[in-house]
Amino acid sequence: MLDVVVLVSGGGTNLQAIIDAVESGDITNARITGVISNNRNAYALERARKHGISGRCISPKDFASREEFNENFMAAVDEWKPDLIVLAGFLVVIPPAMTERYRNRIINIHPSLIPSFCGTGFYGLRVHEAALARGVKVVGATVHFVDEGTDTGPILLQKAVEVEDGDTPGILQKRVMEQAEWKILPRAIDLIANGKVTVRDGKAFVSP
Ligand code: GRF
Repeated sequence: MLDVVVLVSGGGTNLQAIIDAVESGDITNARITGVISNNRNAYALERARKHGISGRCISPKDFASREEFNENFMAAVDEWKPDLIVLAGFLVVIPPAMTERYRNRIINIHPSLIPSFCGTGFYGLRVHEAALARGVKVVGATVHFVDEGTDTGPILLQKAVEVEDGDTPGILQKRVMEQAEWKILPRAIDLIANGKVTVRDGKAFVSP
């Protein structure tokens, strides 16, 4: 059984997709052991509570320095002894020591087809604004392992989504979530939980 800790900052629709997939059996051999948010008011924490999953808030605002926050944050994650850490709309930079400790055991969902529209500053609606400003016809989402860079780790799954006439950043964001993010993030967890994923030379491979 793969013990999964999910890190969130906001509404938690990706968390909800994971919870639903565990409950429906679309994800097998995995359970969510805890949810951590940096934001006390994140609706994601409420979603966890409703499904009987432990939730905690650890905010950088509660600590005198980033180092102190990082230590406490890592200690909280370690307490749950996760086999896999899932960043599901988590807006805090992962401490380098944590990336090192959990090498190839942290995944992130990013709302673009990496390497387009990713890296520092590309989060939330900004990603979709940039895609519309460039006039691309296809967008999508990516699940990747987390390394020391921003959105630079091994790519595990990607799914494309069409841009449509009249799209606004908000409309596009919603379509990318519905058609891509909520599908590939649970799928990635199921693949990992069932031993189908290996990482070699900076690339992720899925076995049939
Ligand atoms: C998603 O678009 C995700 O790709 C991005 O942040 C958003 C989180 O949404 N990293 P939610 O909190 O899962 O609803």
